[in-house]
Amino acid sequence: MPISFIETLSPQATTLHQEAELGILSTPASLPPKFFYDNLGSRLFEAITYLPEYYLTATEEIIFNQFGAEIQAHIGAKPLLIDLGAGNCQKAARFFSLLKPNLYVAIDFSIAYLRTILSHLQSQYPTIPMMGIGMDFSQQLRLPPEVPQTPRTFFYPGSSLGNFLPTEALQLLKQIRQESLGGGLLLGIDLFKSASILEPAYNDPLLVTAAFNLNILRNVNQLLGSNFEVAKFKHHIEINAELMRVELYLEALEATTVQWQGKERYFKKGERIHTENSHKYSLNSIQKLLTAAGFDKMKVWTDPQQYYAVIYAT
Ligand code: AVJ
Repeated sequence: MPISFIETLSPQATTLHQEAELGILSTPASLPPKFFYDNLGSRLFEAITYLPEYYLTATEEIIFNQFGAEIQAHIGAKPLLIDLGAGNCQKAARFFSLLKPNLYVAIDFSIAYLRTILSHLQSQYPTIPMMGIGMDFSQQLRLPPEVPQTPRTFFYPGSSLGNFLPTEALQLLKQIRQESLGGGLLLGIDLFKSASILEPAYNDPLLVTAAFNLNILRNVNQLLGSNFEVAKFKHHIEINAELMRVELYLEALEATTVQWQGKERYFKKGERIHTENSHKYSLNSIQKLLTAAGFDKMKVWTDPQQYYAVIYAT
């Protein structure tokens, strides 16, 4: 079956350049988490998902495995399945034999990566029609007209929604609900819990998360031609209980000046660059958010410890 690939207004190199520059020049400095995911960064994230301390991926998988049949029954037969932030498409593929989608639409930031992954996936599942869309839906989610106008099942696993501020998450969920055309959303979301569990998940003893965080500086050096010295920064996290999130920072170990294209930014010792928010929800707060986005029916599955939730919302 031929796979169609569609690229919708891919972010221009100049916009990405400006976003990175603006972030570094701001006080406090920040960088958007999408800059984590270059080739090495995507692999470092994958390594994180194998850490015993990073319970998110494993717990989601346990829930999917235990309740797969129930989840399938709620979604119904042969859905049009839309994978948001598909990456290597493995999570969705695990549902293929159960769901038998009549079309699988994989959406990701990088269309180049999707091309490789989908051509491989198509040979494993030759009877499932597939489509790849290169799109940055973090600003706005609008599907191209090539996606059939029938009820759509969105798949948004991995607690990726947690990278958005709750106000932004609400906007995205509203757009998903609109674009679902009477279909639904299968969401995986991490639940807020004690610091003793969250801390090692985001500050692991092997320092994989530290490498993942620090790698953003290498990626920015590539993008801007800047001269961040990775060794002058260290990985730091804060558990912000009030805002129910884990915050990632890079903290300057000593005073350092970064230069690029005639511009520069001085960091004093101890100054931080904010690189990520990972928002956590309670069962109550995520359902409230989904309700506010216009979803009125929800089915929730969790693990016995209630670390993580999978929700099917329509
Ligand atoms: C991919 C955004 C879900 O927030 O847990 C993992 C990224 N950052 N360790 C998360 C991440 C540090 C991850 N998400």
